[in-house]
This record gives sequence, structure tokens and C-alpha cells, in this order.
Amino acid sequence: MMEFVNLGDATLAAQYVAIEMFRTIQKQSEPKLGLATGGTMEPVYKSLVQLIEHNPIDLSALKTFNLDEYYGLDKDHPQSYLYFMKHHLFNHIDITENQYYFPDNNAVNLEADNQAYDQLVKSPDGVHLQILGIGTNGHIGFNEPGTPFDSNTRLVQLTDETIQANARFFNHVEEVPTRAVTMGIKTIMSAERIILLAVGKKKQPIIHELYHMEIPDTDVPASVLLTHPDVLIVTDNEAAPQY
Ligand code: GLP
Repeated sequence: MMEFVNLGDATLAAQYVAIEMFRTIQKQSEPKLGLATGGTMEPVYKSLVQLIEHNPIDLSALKTFNLDEYYGLDKDHPQSYLYFMKHHLFNHIDITENQYYFPDNNAVNLEADNQAYDQLVKSPDGVHLQILGIGTNGHIGFNEPGTPFDSNTRLVQLTDETIQANARFFNHVEEVPTRAVTMGIKTIMSAERIILLAVGKKKQPIIHELYHMEIPDTDVPASVLLTHPDVLIVTDNEAAPQY
């Protein structure tokens, strides 16, 4: 079931998502979280760091799985998603290197590593809570329009729209990697619970379209969420659909 809630303010929306992550870590004995990157997630992690600072919580059994990583980008590159996660979350909380996982972005045995990643994410059960952002073209992770809903973790080609959208994080559009390794749609759907956060007016058209969809369509990858039992789409006023 896909539910929508407009929290009005973008900061509040990010705080809400952080609280849900925090509560999941508190409630589960071996919490598994699926993490997303992108500008939308920066205030979420800021808020999560604050919650962890201000409340007693044991992070020793936490495991996190990131959705995606650019292909061929050095792990120390400031635009790599590993760097993003260290900068916004991992460096500020009590977590060690063997607790966070990423799809391999430079592998010799890429296919075997991708299969192993799917196994890690899904076993014994899927993640307790998967956080998602959304691309202006409806992508989730880096699953671009047209991706089959039964796709697993794999190497993908980014669309021009995504490259252009992500160019703002690089000095020049030519520096944006054209490929990435992403959790597949099937992998994402194995999560027990999913929260998708969308803020800002650039996301309004795709959120509006999603809100009015009744049948999932691979042209809008996020529409697969219609078939998941527990999905919440959180927005601010700017990204909210016209109800
Ligand atoms: C990126 C990421 C997605 C993210 C999306 C939106 O390309 N691969 O996981 O959700 O685009 O990013 P932003 O929050 O910066 O708009």
C-alpha cells in the first residue's frame, strides 16, 4: 500500500524520516537500514546524527546498505556516495567500516559481487526500513525508466536527464560518471517498509504523476511501489501532489 503525507515544511519532512530511522534502530535487535544519497538526504542525516547524539542508542548491531554508487569513481572522490555517507553520517556516529555496505563499483568480478550484495541485503530478511529519494524521471536508486521490475543489483547506464540533474554536484557535466551500480528494483522491494522522501518543486511533477497512478508502469520506476505492502511517500508543500 502506498500512502502519501505532505508535512509542509522540508525540514520537518527530513526530521520525520530521521525519526523513523532512529526508531527502527531502537526497535530491532539487529537493525538493517537501506540508505539513499542525494541532496534530499542531507538534512535527514543531519537530523539523525542529532537524534543519536541526544538519545541513548546502541548502534553496535546496525547494518546499513546503500542503494547505489557511481561506477569507476575513486572511493575517495568527494562525489562518491561512500564519501557522501561518511561526510554526512558515518563519521559522526559510532559505526565501524564492517557495518556499512555498498554495491561494488570497481569490481573485477562485478556480477558475482552484485549477486553477493543482493544476498546480503535480502538475507535472512530484507532491510527493516529502506529510505528512497526520487529522480525527476521517477528513478529509484539508479533504476532508470524502462528497468524491469524483477531487476537485481547491477551495472547501469545513466540517462542524460540524471547526468544533467547530478551535474550540480560536480565542477563540470563531463565529470559526472555515465554509469553506476545500483540495487535492483526487486532488491529494493524486498524491504519490509519503505519511505520515499521528495522535497522541492522540481519533484512535484513526478510526485503528482505517481499519486494519480493506479497501475505500475516501468516507464515510472517508482510506480512499482504501488505493489509493496508498506510504503509512505513524504513530501513538503512544494513537492506535494495536487490532490
Ligand atoms: C540520485 C540518486 C537517487 C536519488 C536521486 C535524487 O541520482 N541515485 O538515489 O534519490 O538522484 O537526488 P536528489 O535528492 O539530489 O534530488
